[in-house]
Amino acid sequence: MGQSNLSTKTSLNKSNFEKVLIGRVDSMLNTINAHSKIVNEPLRYALKVRGKCVRPILLYLTADALELNYNQFDNFAAALEVLHTYSLVHDDLPCMDDDDLRRGLPTLHKKYNDSTAVLVGDALQTLSFQLIADDQNFSDEIKIKVISLLTKTTGQNGMINGQFLDLYFENNFASQEDIIEMNILKTSLLIETAMDIPLIINGDKEKNWVDLQRIVGLSFQIIDDIIDLTQPTEILGKTAKKDLAAQKKTLPLMIGIDAAKKELNNYKNDALDIISNLRLSNHPLKFYIESLFSRVR
Ligand code: IPE
Ligand code: IPE
Ligand code: MG
Ligand code: MG
Ligand code: MG
Repeated sequence: MGQSNLSTKTSLNKSNFEKVLIGRVDSMLNTINAHSKIVNEPLRYALKVRGKCVRPILLYLTADALELNYNQFDNFAAALEVLHTYSLVHDDLPCMDDDDLRRGLPTLHKKYNDSTAVLVGDALQTLSFQLIADDQNFSDEIKIKVISLLTKTTGQNGMINGQFLDLYFENNFASQEDIIEMNILKTSLLIETAMDIPLIINGDKEKNWVDLQRIVGLSFQIIDDIIDLTQPTEILGKTAKKDLAAQKKTLPLMIGIDAAKKELNNYKNDALDIISNLRLSNHPLKFYIESLFSRVR
C-alpha cells in the first residue's frame, strides 16, 4: 500500500490507527459489568454504542508521538472514555440539556428513567477512577498524579464549573470571552488532560504541547456547536439544532456560522504549525487532529 513513509515507530499508521485504538477501547469497555442485574442493564446500555473515542485516541496518539508504548495506556484510555460517558449521561438529563437522543439511541433517562441515569452516571464516574487505580503498567506515584489531574480538570473548578456556566447562560447574558471560558471548562480541559497524561509521564512539557492541547480542546466544542446547527439528526446521532432551541450561548450562535468557521480555520492552521514545530507532520496524531477539524465542512 506504499505506507512506509507514514508509519511510526510503532505499528500505528495513517490508515489503521483509528480502528486499532477504538478496538482497544472496545475490548476494555466490553468487559465492564455490575454484579446486580438492576445496575448492569442500564450500565451496559450507557457503554453499548461506541462514540468517536476522541479522548482515548488523543491519549494513545500523544503517547505514541512521545515514543512511549501506547499499549500500556489501556486503563487510562478506558477511564477517560468512561468519565466522558458519565458526563454525557448527566448532560442529557431533563434538568440539564434535556436530550432524547444520544449516539443514535434514546438517552439513558428516556430508555429507563431519571434516577437510573443519575445513578449510572455516578457509577461511571467512580469507575473511571477505579480503572486508573487498578492499572498494572504504571507506578502508584504516576497513578496518583493522573487521578489528581483528572479530578482537577473535571471537578468543581473544571468541567462542572463549565456545565454550571452552560446552564446559567441559557437565561443570562454571555460575552464572547464568557463563551470561550465556558468551552474551555466544560470540554477542553478533559481533552487537554487526555494529552497531558502521557506528557506528565514523559516529564518535560514544552509550550508547543500546551498550546496544541488548548487549540484541540477548544476547537472541539466549537466544532460540536457548528455541526449542531448544520448537520442532520441522522448524522449527529443527537437531535439537530438543539442549542438554538435551548437558547444555548455558543460561538456560532453568537457570531454566525461563517465567522465561527473562519475562527476554526485559524485554530486549525495554528495547530498544524505547532505540529510541524513538534516534528510530527508525518505522525497519525497530525492526521487525527486534521480529521477532527474536517468534521465541519
Ligand atoms: C460530545 O462529545 C460532547 C462534547 C463535549 C462536545 P463527543 O463528540 O466526543 O461525543 P461521542 O463520545 O463521540 O458520542
Ligand atoms: C457537553 O457539551 C459537555 C459535557 C458533557 C461536559 P454539549 O451539551 O454541547 O454536548 P452535546 O451536544 O449534548 O453532545
Ligand atoms: Mg451541555
Ligand atoms: Mg448537551
Ligand atoms: Mg453540543
